[in-house]
Amino acid sequence: RVRVLADVDTGIDDACALVQLVGAERLGATGEAPDVELAAVTVTGGNASARQCALNTAGVLDLLGRPDVEVAVGAQAPLRRPAETTPETHGEQGLGHARVPWRPERISPRPAVDVWLEELRAHPGETVLLCTAPLTNLALALRAEPRLPELAAGVVIMGGAFYYPGNTTPTAEWNTWCDPDAAKEVFAAFEGLPEERLPIVCALETTERIEYTPVLLDSLLAQAGAAPVGWSREQPRHEGPLADTGDPVLDVLADALRFYFEFHDDYDQGYVAHLHDLFAAQAATGQAVVTTSATVVDVEAESELLRGTTVHDDRGIWGRRPNARRVTGNDPDAVFAAFAQAARAAAGD
Ligand code: BDR
Ligand code: CA
Repeated sequence: RVRVLADVDTGIDDACALVQLVGAERLGATGEAPDVELAAVTVTGGNASARQCALNTAGVLDLLGRPDVEVAVGAQAPLRRPAETTPETHGEQGLGHARVPWRPERISPRPAVDVWLEELRAHPGETVLLCTAPLTNLALALRAEPRLPELAAGVVIMGGAFYYPGNTTPTAEWNTWCDPDAAKEVFAAFEGLPEERLPIVCALETTERIEYTPVLLDSLLAQAGAAPVGWSREQPRHEGPLADTGDPVLDVLADALRFYFEFHDDYDQGYVAHLHDLFAAQAATGQAVVTTSATVVDVEAESELLRGTTVHDDRGIWGRRPNARRVTGNDPDAVFAAFAQAARAAAGD
């Protein structure tokens, strides 16, 4: 059984990750997939403000039939920089064209780091930390509990770009760009630990291979017993009827992904969407088979030109011991198939 603590900034692809995790829980219960338990979800800002991301996270979990999963807010801003958001990527409210119920009273009064440490100490060696947001909360948790790498069953991070281009600056990926100080601190904290304890890092050169298309979305809807939505770049941007699949989870997926298709099209990658966090979620639960390579990762946190750039030393030039396992290979078709299967289960079919 894999217990997962997810740290998110929901976020369109974070929402896909939540659908994946809850779907995987249901599939695990029927023996169709590895046994998964979503223990709690913590939030920081990034795609939208921390508060907005928390409301989105809780709203998605409520629609998924998991109003019982604790949603706790952590850092409101990066360690030493102002909070940044990216409405052009994820929409003003973070979920593209989708709307979910927002219930402020749903948000836990406990700080995110308290939730993590309590969970990790109560279940030593059982809980995988899945980080799909800027790494501020993980850096703060490591400061509070330096034994965190031993208490966790593993750490999976979506972040970085080991091979350019970045998606935020020419060299930097969004999560590491938002809080480069946190990312630098996190990698330093793992240096020299046994390889199986090193965080698995899903950086852009692998997550951008998870290139989702309207055809894949319609196929997912069909597998869940819903009619296709047929999103296409010919539709007027940000207008027109939204999805009406008969299922609120599938509607949210379709409307959120439509915005992501439009964003990627506007930024020249075509009418597709890169589901970074979905892939990281599958890597965390063991659903995605990945190949990794131990390396030393460092992050540029001083210069503005290279802010958030992840540099890796595969040749031992720095003379430092490994602090991360970077993902070197993945299987996008398998990721899409597992997502469709999980979405069908999450939608309650
Ligand atoms: C990462 O940045 C965010 O916008 C996405 O949710 C993902 O976690 C990709 O660079
Ligand atoms: Ca994210």
